[in-house]
Amino acid sequence: MIYHQVLVVGGGLAGLRAAIEAADSGLDVAVISRVHPVRSHSGAAQGGINAALGNVEGSRDDSWEKHAFDTVKGSDYLADQDAAEILAREAPERVYEAEHWGCPFSRTDEGKIAQRPFGGAGYPRCCYAADRTGHVLLHTYFEQTVKRGLKVYEERQVLELARGDDGACHGVVCLNLVNGSLEAFGASAVVFATGGFGRIYARSTNALINTGGPLAVAFWAGVPLKDMEFVQFHPTSLWGTNILITEGARGEGGYLLNSRGERFMAAYAPKAMELAPRDIVSRAIETEVLEGRGFENAYVHLDLRHLGAKKILERLPSIREIAMDFAGIDPIVKPIPVQPAQHYAMGGIDTDVDGATALPGFFAAGECACVSVHGANRLGGNSLMETIVFGRRAGAAAARYVGGLENGDGRGRARAAALRAAMLRAEGRVFNLLAGEGGEDPAALRKAMAVAMSDKLGIFRSEGPMREAAATLAELKQRAQRVCVRSRERRYNLELATVLELGGMIEVAETIALGALARRESRGSHARTDFKERDDRNWLKHTVAHWTPEGPRFDYTPVRITRWQPEARRY
Ligand code: FUM
Repeated sequence: MIYHQVLVVGGGLAGLRAAIEAADSGLDVAVISRVHPVRSHSGAAQGGINAALGNVEGSRDDSWEKHAFDTVKGSDYLADQDAAEILAREAPERVYEAEHWGCPFSRTDEGKIAQRPFGGAGYPRCCYAADRTGHVLLHTYFEQTVKRGLKVYEERQVLELARGDDGACHGVVCLNLVNGSLEAFGASAVVFATGGFGRIYARSTNALINTGGPLAVAFWAGVPLKDMEFVQFHPTSLWGTNILITEGARGEGGYLLNSRGERFMAAYAPKAMELAPRDIVSRAIETEVLEGRGFENAYVHLDLRHLGAKKILERLPSIREIAMDFAGIDPIVKPIPVQPAQHYAMGGIDTDVDGATALPGFFAAGECACVSVHGANRLGGNSLMETIVFGRRAGAAAARYVGGLENGDGRGRARAAALRAAMLRAEGRVFNLLAGEGGEDPAALRKAMAVAMSDKLGIFRSEGPMREAAATLAELKQRAQRVCVRSRERRYNLELATVLELGGMIEVAETIALGALARRESRGSHARTDFKERDDRNWLKHTVAHWTPEGPRFDYTPVRITRWQPEARRY
């Protein structure tokens, strides 16, 4: 067995920031990652990171309080307001820390960190590095882990959480993708920073590694998932491939046009226009298409031509490359065809503001966690900030937890037993798959799940289609028990790795479908055509899903309100 005092699962921004913090507390820390850390999905974040620095014209009287308020309003008042305050208050310090660690932000003429407008924000407060902000941040933090000599175990897929008879978390069991072996990692504290679950949907901006499998691993171990029904659709993904086309393109002044050449956002958000929050812009695009004002019944245009070649080349170089490489369109001369696609999970592992969960010794941060700082709808630019604010806090809390254990730990026997049990479960799953003959085709099941989610739990939802999706998922869950793999190879058997996640993905999808069915109102990203209004009297509360063998059981917890009573949301 390998042992580290703190084990961080996930090599993206939240994981690396958690690992840095725990290591700086003097602990032995390691990172387990499915890919090399700089290949993590954090690198795909393009447009920027929010912090009220007040560096540019129009933002001089910005403040962390205004940032927190925009976040709460953007969340349709479901965010826990203490969490939104922490995010906004700590944001400037985190940006300056990244700057001092060498992050190459774009600059104003005065040499300050540049900031652009982003959706739902009252001020231009989104700090950026052209349209590669996640990429440069990820490299910056990775350098810091290298500088500290942190051990990284790459190409590992987490399969089981080791929960001891003493009710604490003692480590994880992983599949080593390189040689196919199962490995037990003991730890005094585990931090999950495993990202989102976009691949549960058929149309997503997410990387292929964003399966949500680790959410199921936590769920099976008795850790509740919160607010799973709130799924963000980014308004502008490239039509066809669904590669992200950053909100920064609209922040720089890009327009959305329907097939009549109209800037249709005037009808949906007359003040904010293209910079309304994502839930509103996505619904607007979907409505234009559904009512016949889209192109080819599928997309609208994002027009950047009026920005001019110089600005596009300087501020949006990757967007131009993506449009040219994947759609054959140069946005300097032609509009980009865009459509909404699943982008982000507001819900996730239920944590407090320090990343602690219901399972002692088990923490979570970043997109896999639900603090809840985004409530029913996240503002663009708050995700990168969430990773480093709450990643740091989770790393610090994990270190405090380890420091507080008696004899520096002293739980060796409980750990060994928990890991043995977790290993037996993992071995059983792998053995059954490799030994099975015939059976269900896992790719077909996965596709059926993803299509049901995109078609029936998308931007607009209603009882009938959601019930159909839930029935499909229930059937797929049964059939997933009879899947087998065709290749018995142990080394780099990505078929095995994918199939090992399938059952968990379906169970995560079930928490979304059933949580959405139960929530009989519209709030943020959860827009029901049969319950069109927000219902604060009955539904100003978080959904908490608990695993049971029969399917998720739900209960509800109150939203923490510190300063802002819910109001109608107008933009
Ligand atoms: O549009 C974007 O650049 C995405 C940013 C985000 O999701 O925060």
